[in-house]
Amino acid sequence: MNKDNSISVRLMRKDDLEWVTDLGQNTPEFKTETSAAQFFSAETLRNWINDPNGVTLVAEIDGRKAGFLLGCYITGPNDGYIKCTVIENVHRRKGVGRELQSSALEEFSQKGLEGHKCDHVFSLVKDDDGPMLNLKREMGFEIGAKGYYVEIMLHPKGKEF
Ligand SMILES: CC(C)(COP(=O)(O)OP(=O)(O)OC[C@H]1O[C@@H](n2cnc3c(N)ncnc32)[C@H](O)[C@@H]1OP(=O)(O)O)[C@@H](O)C(=O)NCCC(=O)NCCS
Repeated sequence: MNKDNSISVRLMRKDDLEWVTDLGQNTPEFKTETSAAQFFSAETLRNWINDPNGVTLVAEIDGRKAGFLLGCYITGPNDGYIKCTVIENVHRRKGVGRELQSSALEEFSQKGLEGHKCDHVFSLVKDDDGPMLNLKREMGFEIGAKGYYVEIMLHPKGKEF
């Protein structure tokens, strides 16, 4: 599956966060077309990488950052949620997205209680995001009903910087 054996995936670190924010803010596929903040604050990201339910990964090619994935395990429904996967433009179509999805699924399979481990992972993908839909399909995800991104900011801080 891995087109490039030099791809490696590791846990996200604090020193990745500036790069993650920069890449995240400059990725048009994130835009939800609402007025809510469109990417995560530095504080949220710092907490996320330390959250035992977080699945926060960075992929590197030859030791250089190429892409990231942000997800989390949700305890009540026993669900894994992949919030986003973003690959640097110059590193797309090299198998990095695939490696990140695969590592995330492995991480999710370890989350949850003994005897009741996470067994379901979902994502929201825009219906015009063909590359992501293809990637998900290739990884074995089923593509279900289309929908809308519906959200509300609960207080001014929210996802803002
Ligand atoms: C979607 C995205 C993560 C794919 O990452 P990637 O590293 O380029 O994907 P891979 O090289 O692992 O590709 C795996 C498969 O996905 C599909 N795919 C990836 N890019 C594609 C493209 N531009 N067009 C069509 N299919 C594509 C293909 O099936 C591909 O397999 P193949 O190369 O053998 O044909 C990347 O394009 C990206 O960062 N997009 C912007 C961010 C985004 O849309 N995120 C989703 C919302 S958070």
